[in-house]
Amino acid sequence: MQQQAIAILDSGVGGLTVVKEVMRQLPKEQIIYFGDTERAPYGPRRAEEVVRFTEEIVSFLLKFHPKMIVIACNTATAVAMDRIRTMVPVPVVGVIHPGARAAIKMTRSQTIGVIGTEGTIRSRAYERALHELSPHVRIVSRACPALVPLVEKGLYHAPESKATVRASIQPVLEQPIDCLILGCTHYPFLQDMISEIAGPEVSLINSAEETAREVSALLYHRGQLAKTDAAPRHRFFCSGDEGMFRQIAQEWLGQPVDVTQVAWPVSRIV
Ligand code: DGL
Repeated sequence: MQQQAIAILDSGVGGLTVVKEVMRQLPKEQIIYFGDTERAPYGPRRAEEVVRFTEEIVSFLLKFHPKMIVIACNTATAVAMDRIRTMVPVPVVGVIHPGARAAIKMTRSQTIGVIGTEGTIRSRAYERALHELSPHVRIVSRACPALVPLVEKGLYHAPESKATVRASIQPVLEQPIDCLILGCTHYPFLQDMISEIAGPEVSLINSAEETAREVSALLYHRGQLAKTDAAPRHRFFCSGDEGMFRQIAQEWLGQPVDVTQVAWPVSRIV
């Protein structure tokens, strides 16, 4: 059991923000990652489609007999997590509750901003998670569909991306929020830009960090932390262009990555 990997999935490169945190907090753990780059973004897609895609990816990842599945995608967590939990024999961790918990700990004004994809915001999953913890907190949320494509194209450092980021998040910043949940795992790629625009009085909540903390706690309590001293051999799979995925993954993770492109039969008909 101890030598099994943690399987992590996303619509694309966004889940790498969770991978980086898991590597930092749990350096002995082996990671198997799947990014559905050919079918990203998931944000504008219908919920049933996102559920189906998530099921397909999880079925693929189960072939590696992971000890845990991390849905490192807010859009998929919002609509597919309950379904996936009934489908697999291992714990399934999503990214919404960890982010909500961190925001509740952080806020003093009790007014929290949430930015995410259309699918995540439409699902109201953050409202539910935040109100479950603290019924009176005020939430200002906004879908920012322009941000994921910037990250998937590798434009997260490009100065010309700043105007798009500013226009996307400005309406939330006009409200009296003191923390802003980055409710999409792609957004930590843009964290420096977002932080510069939001200013020092708004704390950014990065669900990647919080999710890795939850993974760590869960493995510890289940007695499943990796015991080996050998360096773990991580594996990355993507459904779209391998070159772009490798470039972003290597830059973000600061190490060479072993990437394999997987073509879904189903990807031909969607
Ligand atoms: N990274 C994902 C999320 O956290 C999905 C973004 C997308 O594909 O639209 O929601």
